[in-house]
Amino acid sequence: MSIVANKPEPLLYEMSNPGTIGYSLPACDVPITQLPNHLMRDDLRLPEVSETDVVRHFTRLSQKNYCVDLGIYPLGSCTMKYNPKINEEAIRLMGMSSVHPMQTAETAQGAMQLMYDLQNYLGEISGMPAVTLQPAAGAQGELVGILIIRAYHLSRGDIARNEVLIPDSAHGTNPATSAMAGYKVVEVKSDARGNMDLDDLRAKVSNKTAGIMFTNPNTLGLFEEHVREVNQIIHDAGGLVYGDGANLNAIIGIARPGDLGFDVMHSNLHKTFSIPHGGGGPGSGPVMARADLAQFLPSPIVGKNGDEYVFENPAHSIGRIKSFWGNFLALVRAYTYIRSYGKEHLKEIAEVAVLNANYLLALIRDVYDPQIPERECKHEFVLNGTRFKKEYGVTTLDVAKRIIDYGFYPPTIYFPLIVPECLMIEPTETQSKASLDEFADALLKIAQEARDNPKLLRDAPHDTPVTRLDDVKAAREPVLRYEHA
Ligand SMILES: Cc1ncc(COP(=O)(O)O)c(C=O)c1O
Repeated sequence: MSIVANKPEPLLYEMSNPGTIGYSLPACDVPITQLPNHLMRDDLRLPEVSETDVVRHFTRLSQKNYCVDLGIYPLGSCTMKYNPKINEEAIRLMGMSSVHPMQTAETAQGAMQLMYDLQNYLGEISGMPAVTLQPAAGAQGELVGILIIRAYHLSRGDIARNEVLIPDSAHGTNPATSAMAGYKVVEVKSDARGNMDLDDLRAKVSNKTAGIMFTNPNTLGLFEEHVREVNQIIHDAGGLVYGDGANLNAIIGIARPGDLGFDVMHSNLHKTFSIPHGGGGPGSGPVMARADLAQFLPSPIVGKNGDEYVFENPAHSIGRIKSFWGNFLALVRAYTYIRSYGKEHLKEIAEVAVLNANYLLALIRDVYDPQIPERECKHEFVLNGTRFKKEYGVTTLDVAKRIIDYGFYPPTIYFPLIVPECLMIEPTETQSKASLDEFADALLKIAQEARDNPKLLRDAPHDTPVTRLDDVKAAREPVLRYEHA
């Protein structure tokens, strides 16, 4: 976006001016050696530009990006909440940013104390005291959890269990993880209230069941009304219960999965615990488990010997899953976030997240169709766009693209897979009432446009540097270089 209307924005290669350099190196103070010829090339065309040109180019690119610091980012299931700046101050402290993973434990006691305390906080929040901070993402946490479940069964000589049950509303990583760990995935249907269908569950559970993996509240934004019963059915069959706690925003400080009968779970620090997602930095998906499963955790874990923090290797560890100690600075951010709230106030995250989701839903529910209208949502809600498609010939993709024209990031669409023309919205607790009102207002205007001028939606977005991409072509034949040979 240029502040001078219609001023063309030059691209870095087009700004190239032979002879211009954008760097200055200090005088060489080591002997000069010649690189071997096979490592040299002279066909690499790089733009010859000044430092200012480079800075302006990347600043311009960054301004084309939408981010959570600019406005609501209502991606359901992804919990795109504000990333408090105090987290960034904490990671910039010398002892945090400069600690080296090869340092000995004696010289890294402060960092280890932080990890030890964070393990305890997550243990307390989840109700499961055995904690590893190593996994680098939610999906890796899932794999660790499933490998722990496998190690548990094998340690008991229970070797015939080869199935993992997963509800049809699950996040795609759940079946993928189970399959990666060598299990057959057995799908459990949802019922009309958005819960797991207990009859279907009972029909599918057996002595082959290693466990079940499910999200609660589920991806419809609904609390599983029979959570204890589900967990009992699995336990009675000798299986373990895995909780996909990627997103704890609806229950943090209010309900503990360990108290509800879950045995193992992961949580994405880059969701509930305010760490930037994706391009914003590396993630972290710690795993929590009930006490007797501590022996299987990946090694090492931070323990305490008297006053000294030590690295411990659990007796029957599933092994290492990540180099060094996990994504340490992600851990520092989560620690800072938890400490900023304090034990007494953590539950306000969930209270406001659920309030915000229900408030937003109330503003738009007469115009958009909630998937399960008779139930209150938790931290997110799911709309069904079938009527829009039938009555106005407008798809959920069209609605999402039109949202971009109103200056917002669109919500998650077409997930969960069980909802046709699905639109999944999670506002999070970090949006003000004004921001929710503004977003609802845009959604209502878009619904009006869908009725009056559906083409406007079908051709959206109108104001972006590129309009609709061919999604399939973009995924199959990505153009990743400025010059495409
Ligand atoms: C419910 C759920 N489970 C698992 C994951 C996987 O987490 P990650 O993307 O960090 O691997 C996600 C991420 O979007 C999720 O929403």
